[in-house]
Amino acid sequence: MEFITKSTKETQDLGKKFAATLKGGEVILLQGDLGSGKTTFVQGVAQGLGVSRVITSPTFILMRTYSIPHATDLSLYHLDLYRLEHGADREIEALGVFDLWGKPDAIVCIEWPERIKKIPSHAIRITFSLEENDHHTISIPGTL
Ligand SMILES: Nc1ncnc2c1ncn2[C@@H]1O[C@H](COP(=O)(O)OP(=O)(O)OP(=O)(O)O)[C@@H](O)[C@H]1O
Ligand SMILES: [Mg+2]
Repeated sequence: MEFITKSTKETQDLGKKFAATLKGGEVILLQGDLGSGKTTFVQGVAQGLGVSRVITSPTFILMRTYSIPHATDLSLYHLDLYRLEHGADREIEALGVFDLWGKPDAIVCIEWPERIKKIPSHAIRITFSLEENDHHTISIPGTL
């Protein structure tokens, strides 16, 4: 389903709504140009999951982990692979990311997943684009 958001808050609210569909075990791919709203959406996902820490882009450290207060055994993993070369699977493997695929207690959000080849078949792909007049289009599979 395609959504159009007209402000940062609208994108965060959409992320929040999407978070309500998550149970654990999901791998979420966030695809779209620089500044198209991927990190903003993850901020909403985190809010929806009850994470009170501020979500900033993990560009330089690749991955941040947040525990989810309402579900003590669940964690949110936020990755940003932008600075990696294409085919950076080795570097990602060293971080233990592939061990998270399908772990029922992990919700994994990945910005710039194009950088790696090994993507699980159950991954949920969300695409972002920045349109004229500053609208952001966000496509999420299924309905919310
Ligand atoms: N409708 C909107 N949706 C999302 N962000 C918006 C919107 N309107 C304005 N913005 C602003 O646009 C910027 C989007 O940046 P954001 O970091 O979310 O993009 P990104 O896709 O994660 O980029 P990058 O690839 O660099 O990580 C933010 O500064 C945000 O406040
Ligand atoms: Mg980002």
